[in-house]
Amino acid sequence: MSRFWSPVVHGLSPYVPGEQPKLDNLIKLNTNENPYPPSPRVLAAITAATDRLRLYPDPSAASLRETIAAYYKVAPEEVFAGNGSDEVLAHTFQGLLKHDGPLLFPDITYSFFPVWCQLYGVSHEAVPLDAAMRIEIADYRRPCGAIIIPNPNAPTGIALSRDAIEQLVSEHPDQLVVIDEAYVDFGADSAVPLVARHDNLLVIQTLSKSRALAGLRVGFAIGQKPLIEALERVKDSFNSYPHGGLAIAGAVAAIKDDAWFQQTRRRIMTSRDALSRGLTDLGFEVLPSAANFVFARHPRHGGADLAARLRAHGVLVRHFGKPRIADYLRITVGTDEECARLIDLAAGLI
Ligand SMILES: Cc1ncc(COP(=O)(O)O)c(C=O)c1O
Repeated sequence: MSRFWSPVVHGLSPYVPGEQPKLDNLIKLNTNENPYPPSPRVLAAITAATDRLRLYPDPSAASLRETIAAYYKVAPEEVFAGNGSDEVLAHTFQGLLKHDGPLLFPDITYSFFPVWCQLYGVSHEAVPLDAAMRIEIADYRRPCGAIIIPNPNAPTGIALSRDAIEQLVSEHPDQLVVIDEAYVDFGADSAVPLVARHDNLLVIQTLSKSRALAGLRVGFAIGQKPLIEALERVKDSFNSYPHGGLAIAGAVAAIKDDAWFQQTRRRIMTSRDALSRGLTDLGFEVLPSAANFVFARHPRHGGADLAARLRAHGVLVRHFGKPRIADYLRITVGTDEECARLIDLAAGLI
């Protein structure tokens, strides 16, 4: 606290990211990182780009936007790229989600959403998930200024079908609907093909999870041109160079190496299904996940206690001490060895 703080700073409750421990020997299943390295072509591209470190990077990241556009079969003008999808989301909250009616999002969802609402003064209303922790499209039939939902939702991992997303978008033709697809590559259907026929849809993705580049900080949005223009206006009023040249080069290489991407994400989906089965066999209730994590609770053990005991044995998982989900653990899908270690440990603890 200081007398130099702007008034808005006093009211902030900042987002708390998952722990990034200093110890090397922990099994890290707490921040939904990819357990495998990125494509080797990423490292080669980054090395080659070091020649240009003296220069500012391209402020429009044209090569990256063109690569994303080609991959997702949209126009480069329909792509916005930012420093991680968190930055893309932040610009979206500021530039596209502040309206007279409240922004709607699920009561259980990405916990950064209310933080951006606070930072940018966006009024919001939480829409409860149903008893099975699912998003019900019908519950969003109420007056609102805009809607944002992750698909799959986080931290539940449960996905909506593309048809359900299209229904939501069609039912709110005068409101922007933002779909945060941070985990979509692990088994859900992307809403990107809907962008061409809906001017009120913005889809946001990241290279942090399925392309194993959390450390590079690259995310992007796909939507019709006026929406992208809003994000460009916010970006160019905030930071002209959100990506370093190394990040642009690495991200382009990652998107171009589709074989690596397909192989890695399939491997993770297979491990996820095995992890879910293993936990279910131990008596855990595991929500059906289409993400690179599972959300699970044990009927006889509290989430905080289990997370602390796993940590004492060198395995980090994420626990949210919040209403409705305090008994759950969010467990990132690691390598098969890491998942097996988690199952062995959990078997001894319950
Ligand atoms: C639902 C969701 N959206 C967005 C992000 C942000 O990812 P990044 O900023 O690394 O792209 C995360 C990160 O964990 C997330 O869980």
